[in-house]
This record gives sequence, C-alpha cells and structure tokens, in this order.
Amino acid sequence: MGSDPKIEKLHQMREQARLGGGQARIDRQHERGKLTARERIEKLLDPGSFRELDMFVTHRATGFGVEKQKYLGDSVVTGWGRINGRLVYVFSQDFTVFGGSLSEAHAEKVCKIMDLAMKNGAPVIGLNDSGGARIQEGVASLAGYAYIFLRNVLASGVIPQISVILGPCAGGAVYSPAMTDFTIMTKGTSHMFITGPEVIKAVTHEEVTFEELGGAMAHASKSGVAHFAAENEEHSLAMVRQLLSYIPQNNTEDPPFVPTADPEDRMDAELATIVPDSPTRAYDMKAVIRHVVDDGQFMEVHEHWAQNIIVGFARMGGFAVGIVAQQPLVLAGVLDIEASRKAARFVRFCDAFNIPIITFVDVPGFLPGVEQEHGGIILNGAKLLYAYCEATVPKITIITRKAYGGAYDVMSSKHIRGDISYAWPTAEIAVMGPDGAVNIVFRKEIAAAADPAAEKARLVEEYRERFANPYIAAARGYIDDVIEPQETRPRIIEALKMLQNKRDSNPPKKHGNIPL
Ligand code: HXC
Repeated sequence: MGSDPKIEKLHQMREQARLGGGQARIDRQHERGKLTARERIEKLLDPGSFRELDMFVTHRATGFGVEKQKYLGDSVVTGWGRINGRLVYVFSQDFTVFGGSLSEAHAEKVCKIMDLAMKNGAPVIGLNDSGGARIQEGVASLAGYAYIFLRNVLASGVIPQISVILGPCAGGAVYSPAMTDFTIMTKGTSHMFITGPEVIKAVTHEEVTFEELGGAMAHASKSGVAHFAAENEEHSLAMVRQLLSYIPQNNTEDPPFVPTADPEDRMDAELATIVPDSPTRAYDMKAVIRHVVDDGQFMEVHEHWAQNIIVGFARMGGFAVGIVAQQPLVLAGVLDIEASRKAARFVRFCDAFNIPIITFVDVPGFLPGVEQEHGGIILNGAKLLYAYCEATVPKITIITRKAYGGAYDVMSSKHIRGDISYAWPTAEIAVMGPDGAVNIVFRKEIAAAADPAAEKARLVEEYRERFANPYIAAARGYIDDVIEPQETRPRIIEALKMLQNKRDSNPPKKHGNIPL
C-alpha cells in the first residue's frame, strides 16, 4: 500500500516548520552556544508533553521582499506542556526566523497562549531571543507588543509569569519581561537594554560593552531587573522548573505540598551559636535560614542585588514559604532603597499567590545619608511597609537581634497584621540602638561627666539592660513569645499549620495606591 499523499504532505510541512529559518541558521545558533527554540522547549518541559499550536501560521507582511520569505510558524514556537506533571504554557522565540523578531503573527501566537493560560489558570513561560520589533512590519509590530503588554498586566497576580532571556531583548521589548514575576538571564548570551552601546555612545559619549550594559550579571547585581543569573541555557531552564515547584498554578490555588523526611519537630542546637555575643558583630542570616527550613534547601531570589536583605523560597514541614530576612553580613542588614524595593516586590508576589511569608528580623534601621534621602528612601521604604500591610497571607516573624525604630514596624510586626511574632532572647526591640539613644537623651550629662567616655558606657549598658531586650514588647503582647533559637523550626511549622485556614481581606477598592 502506498502512503497517503495528504498525510505525506502534513509530515513534510511539520518537518519544514521544525526547521524554522533553515539548517544554516540553526548551525549558527549552535555555534554561538545557543539552543534552538524547540530544543529549549524540550529541555524545559516533561519529556513528550509539548503540544504545539499554530505551527502553520506565517507572517502576512509585504514589501522589502518579505513576502517571499515565509517560514511555517514564523518566529515563535508556542503551545502547552507539563512541568513535573503540572500544566504550563510556553512561547519560545525562534532566532533563526528574522532574528526572532516580533511580527503581527508572532504577537497573535503569543497572545493566544496567554489567553489560554488565563482561562485555564496555569503559568506562562516566555523564552526570549529576539531582535525586537519586525522592522518590515512597522506599526503592526508595535501593536503586537502592546497586545502582549496588556495581557502581562491583566495576568499579573492571576497566573505566574516567568521570563527567560536567552539572547537579545532590547528596546521596548524589555517591558514584557519587566512586567512578569521573574526574569532569568543567561550569562554571556543574553542582553537586555532600552538602548544599546552604540546609541549610548552617540548620545552620552559613554563607552560600555553589551555585557557590562545589559548582561546577566549587570541586571542581577546592579539594576535588579534579573532575579536570577544562570550559568548557561540548561541552568536557566532548570531554574524555571525549580521555581515553579514553590508556586501555585494560579491565585486561587495553594502552592504544592512536598512531604519531607526532615522532622517537623527537629531542634537545632547550632542556631543558638549563630548570633554573636557582641551586638555589633555580624553573622550570616543564610545560615539561620538553612538550619530552619526543610532539608536546608533555600532558593534565593535576587541573590546578587541588594544583598543586605535576603528573599527566596523554601519549604517548612512541606509547605512552600517565602522568606524575607535581613543579612547582617552586608551593611549590617540596614534597610535602604534597593533592599526595600527588592523585599516589597517579593512580599507582593507571595501575597498574590498564597505563599506564607516568614520574616527573620535583624535590622538596625533605615540607611542614613543624603544620597538615600534624595534617592527617595521615604517613598521606597514605604513600598515595603505598604506591601507587608496589605498582605493577607500567613505572616510569621522571628526577631533574632535588632528591631529598631520604624524598621521594627515595617518588618512584619504584629501592628501591621503580622500573625505570629516570636523573638529570640538575643532580640533588642527599641526606638533606636543604645549608642544613638544615649547620645540624644543624655547629651548634657555625658558632656558634664568627669570621664565622658566612662559615663557614656555606663548609660549605654543601663539602656541596653532596660530597653534592648524582647521582654518589654512581650509584656505588651507585641511579641507572642520569646523562644529558644533551637526550637525555631518546630515553632514556625506549628504556626504555619495553625494559620492554614487563615482568612483575611482588605476593604473593597479598585486598587490601592502603592507609593511607586
Ligand atoms: C527584522 C531582523 C530584526 C528585526 C534581526 N533581524 N533583527 N529582521 N526585524 N528587528 C534579522 C536579520 O536581518 C538577520 O536576517 C537575522 O535576523 C539575524 O540577525 P543578525 O543581525 O544577522 O544577527 P546578529 O549579528 O546576532 O545580531 C542580532 C541583533 C541585530 C543584535 C538582534 O540583528 C540587531 O541589532 N537587530 C535589530 C535590533 C533592533 O533595532 N530592533 C528594533 C528595536 S526597537 P538573515 O536573513 O540574515 O538571517 C523595538 C521596539 C519594540 O524592538 C517596541 C515595543 C514597544
């Protein structure tokens, strides 16, 4: 029996679509250490789970000879698949077709899967590798971007959106990843910028390389645009899979529960040795986190940016949690503009997606300085305060050492609807640190003393004794209990379980007016 010519044609067309812009361009992509759009999807998703849509869509542009250059599927591969068995939607820009540039048809394909993702309540993952707007399509391409931007915004807080940058992403095109929840950049091969090095040189006479301007580490450590910097493409895609394991499918669901062999009641004596005796000595809060969470596993977000605050995901007793913590090792864990922005965005993500927030506090206050004041520490610090105030997910706070001044209020205090606040015996909760307080309150007495330094030291000690401890706050019920460091893990897990059915809400409104 001969083969059916119609089926034969279908096979041929599918084969042609899979070749994208042709073998020569695929080879070029490989030579640069980059995978093709389809290879990336295969590595991202569970094996064999990808179902492609719109494989036969072509662009509709005319002029500049493009009507003769049609590639099945055009410059993006779209569809759905599974990650650890859970539904996700994916678009993967195909650099072998017009440099992955965005045509009207390309935008329609992306919008189609975004609409499906919204209707069916599942995450969208965008694999970006594109020369930007399809030059030959002019305003139709700009319109296409706008349709995607609109969907990014409407989907925000409803379904998780993750962007992976695996090549160029420039001009206005950067605003789609910027509005998604997480951006992962690949070191060496990905770049993001509004205007590239050549334009910058012409306008401001600054000389900068692609990598310095918009590479993965530039955005992961300087601008905060990238949440993660991956070593290579495989690492980027593995990060997406790991990240999704902490996140629910949509805002009406809870995150996946992952049972653990790490006992819920595990006491950890080492926790008692981490906070140094001297209140001015630093220690590593990441060690505290690792000792407390399930199996010591912590997926840090924004690891390289605003390192004075730590944010990321972990599990406790199998429940996914978001962790926010000061890092005393960097700037003594002070809250500055960037730390406030970083933590505020993370708190809002957790709140949008029903992820309880555990906050470890050791904060000397807000960073003083003209640069901070003129850079807007008032508005930026307010972002974090606002984010914690509006969050209705379970909020558990552990004060390990300092909780001074306004920063005490901000860091998930009970006064702004923190559910459970515990303090370690080393906690110091006060309007300000002993040094500053004594200088202000006893300035005259210190100056008049025979030995001012000795008098100051005596007053500091007296202040510390009187105010810099957790018991004044505990006496008022602002702290629910003073706990031993070693019992931190069981205490948090018990509280998480107690709060499992927490219901809280904000007054009905169109939306709040967070100080942006
Ligand atoms: C049409 C494009 C294209 C584009 C690249 N190509 N960008 N075609 N529209 N925007 C095509 C090239 O003609 C080439 O076709 C193929 O893609 C690969 O491009 P190369 O230049 O050979 O690759 P490479 O050397 O790696 O350089 C990649 C690049 C460069 C850095 C992305 O192509 C480039 O600078 N492109 C233009 C970028 C740009 O200015 N875009 C508009 C930005 S404004 P062949 O046939 O040879 O394979 C924008 C606005 C968005 O995006 C607005 C949203 C609001």
